[in-house]
Amino acid sequence: MESQKSERILSGIQPSGDLHLGNYFGAIEQFKKRQDRGDELFIFVADWHSLTTIKKADELRKNVLQIVAAYMAFGLDADKTTLYRQSDIPEIQEITWILSCQASMSRLQNAHSYKDKVAKGIDASVGLFTYPVLMAADILCVQSDVVPVGKDQKQHVEISRELAEKFNKVFGKTFKVPKVETPEEIAVIPGTDGQKMSKSYGNTIDLFPTDKKLKKQVNSIVTKPIDQGQPLGWETCNVFKLFKLFGSKNEIEDLKKKYEEGSIGYGHAKAELLDKVHEKFDPARKEFARLLENKDEIENVLTIGKERAGEVVRNTLATMREKVGLS
Ligand code: ADP
Ligand code: TRP
Repeated sequence: MESQKSERILSGIQPSGDLHLGNYFGAIEQFKKRQDRGDELFIFVADWHSLTTIKKADELRKNVLQIVAAYMAFGLDADKTTLYRQSDIPEIQEITWILSCQASMSRLQNAHSYKDKVAKGIDASVGLFTYPVLMAADILCVQSDVVPVGKDQKQHVEISRELAEKFNKVFGKTFKVPKVETPEEIAVIPGTDGQKMSKSYGNTIDLFPTDKKLKKQVNSIVTKPIDQGQPLGWETCNVFKLFKLFGSKNEIEDLKKKYEEGSIGYGHAKAELLDKVHEKFDPARKEFARLLENKDEIENVLTIGKERAGEVVRNTLATMREKVGLS
């Protein structure tokens, strides 16, 4: 078998609230698979990005530790993977400024993160407007080959690619132009109402809730009313769509059969899903709780990450400064 070349992977999550299944399947699980494949990973917590939404210092600090604890609980290992906090590396801000002098206003005006807010009549901040440039700095500063993200972030990575190309053209080859990776089957994880699962839609199933809350969230999955004993349509059922993420091939086939025979109701299907969620996530939930009781372990990982990522970022910045004529 042909051995795959190890790639440098960069990705991050904003610490802007409780993590949910979308974050797991769309992000964390992808990172873990890459780590297991022997890739070189830079995975960070995008705390500067969260300043666009979070206005409470304690909440931000708490969320940052929770994201790192989640990374660790799901098996990202600081011996193999560089885990860091964005704001621990101030050089990223200088990179952001240099890149922002190449970024086109009209391109940023068309970025959906900004455009959607404006369309809703929200007075967006300058930070939200320039968010894709900060994201480009995050990505380009480590010279990554691949950026795995959910579909919602694809446009941002494309803007990063364009900026890298533009900078390379104007100042000479400086950046690798990274690929974006959004595997189709996990590109959009549906929420309890069938739309994209997202904190902002209030349709999440969380990764680390209490048992009671988890049950409530699973039970809140929206289903189509149907007469008892009638077959349930699995193709469009939100419970089935989520079950597919957890069950083995056989388990999925079994459930499909029960739906078609009309031998299962939504209540039972939800109970089966809930069991699967427990089975898959309970070990990580336990480890997550343990880590939050041992915050030193989390801080140690961040200290190592700050050094490792900082070195790479400083090298990139030195090249950029040279290319643009800063001393
Ligand atoms: P939210 O929409 O809840 O605010 P974030 O934007 O913080 O989530 O997402 C963090 C990471 O998780 C990103 O890589 C994003 O693409 C991924 N992600 C979030 N929601 C989903 C989803 N429903 N399906 C797939 N990936 C998702
Ligand atoms: N914007 C991403 C989100 O909301 C988080 C993020 C910031 C990110 N910088 C990044 C993701 C760089 C991938 C690469 O989820």
